[in-house]
Amino acid sequence: MATSTTSSLFVLLLCAPALSFALDPHQVRTPSPLWRRGRSVPAAGFYNPHDSGGTMLTVAPNTGGLGEPLNVIVSGNSDEAVLADVEDNGGFRNYFLAVGFASECLGQHAGDAQTANLGDGHGTKNETAELRWDYGDPSLGTCQETIKGGNHFRYWIQDGPNANSGAFFLATSYELPIQRGHDIAFNGYNFGRDWLVGNATAQSSLIPTGNVTNGTTYSGSISYGGYTYHTDALYLSGIASNSTTGLNHASSVGGDGVEAVDGLVAVLTIKVTAKPTAAAA
Ligand SMILES: *[C@@H]1O[C@H](CO)[C@@H](O)[C@H](O)[C@H]1NC(C)=O
Ligand SMILES: *[C@@H]1O[C@H](CO)[C@@H](O)[C@H](O)[C@H]1NC(C)=O
Ligand SMILES: *[C@@H]1O[C@H](CO)[C@@H](O)[C@H](O)[C@H]1NC(C)=O
Ligand SMILES: *[C@@H]1O[C@H](CO)[C@@H](O)[C@H](O)[C@H]1NC(C)=O
Ligand SMILES: *[C@@H]1O[C@H](CO)[C@@H](O)[C@H](O)[C@H]1NC(C)=O
Repeated sequence: MATSTTSSLFVLLLCAPALSFALDPHQVRTPSPLWRRGRSVPAAGFYNPHDSGGTMLTVAPNTGGLGEPLNVIVSGNSDEAVLADVEDNGGFRNYFLAVGFASECLGQHAGDAQTANLGDGHGTKNETAELRWDYGDPSLGTCQETIKGGNHFRYWIQDGPNANSGAFFLATSYELPIQRGHDIAFNGYNFGRDWLVGNATAQSSLIPTGNVTNGTTYSGSISYGGYTYHTDALYLSGIASNSTTGLNHASSVGGDGVEAVDGLVAVLTIKVTAKPTAAAA
């Protein structure tokens, strides 16, 4: 049954005209350079981009400068292994396989890059990559996400000469199915963040988005590929704005007493607590 779902998805992908451009090899985004030395990590685990000319909003192409909130940060105080943008050695991408996110469908990327300025001296730069909810199937599940919608994030690494924390900044949101143009769902920025945190900390029930406040914490452990990770999540206000100024999709994401962005950022500090036997040093 899984096989037939997979193969019909594959056929759908090959046939759907809206997706055919996703097979253009020129769209493949190269992963960021490997680990960079000379990190200096402040106690918070990251530098506030606002302190040196950056912002906590991305810029989406063809929107006249609107963007999405950077609402999750993987702290530079996480284990070094997790701060490498790789799948092997228990790296960032293996961690997110444990959370339930994988690379994009068939390794391709649809659409232009978003950009962000993390105030690290690198100015505005393209997203490193985008990961999508994999519906329990790391190899083809993100093809379902592309069609059915779901949680996804783009990310950038704060590693420039002026603020080299090594932290990862994620713009997380829950998007609608492709027939609805991949708009962001109602409350989809705050929900996207909290469902990511809920999975990363192995919560048995949903994080109550309306009740999360400055200083709220969640903790828990998850595993993938023989690596077990312990994540401490801390919600902070005062770093990102709760204003909709500059926010893409602002009118459809908020309303009726729900703020499109509540201004809270979830900071994740991730430690590797077990490794595959063969990888143990
Ligand atoms: C950023 O991405 C765009 C495609 O979205 C590409 O045309 C451009 O060359 C990229 N810039 C850099 C510096 O990689
Ligand atoms: C985990 O993520 C999935 C997909 O976004 C979501 O449906 C589910 O509610 C999340 N679980 C928790 C505990 O947040
Ligand atoms: C959220 O807070 C309200 C009032 O403070 C409380 O009644 C409710 O039970 C809380 N919801 C959850 C899921 O914790
Ligand atoms: C949020 O809580 C932290 C402690 O966890 C505190 O240092 C900070 O000042 C608080 N921020 C705001 C805006 O109240
Ligand atoms: C939004 O942020 C402002 C400060 O910039 C604060 O006064 C206000 O309470 C915040 N609103 C909510 C609902 O968090």
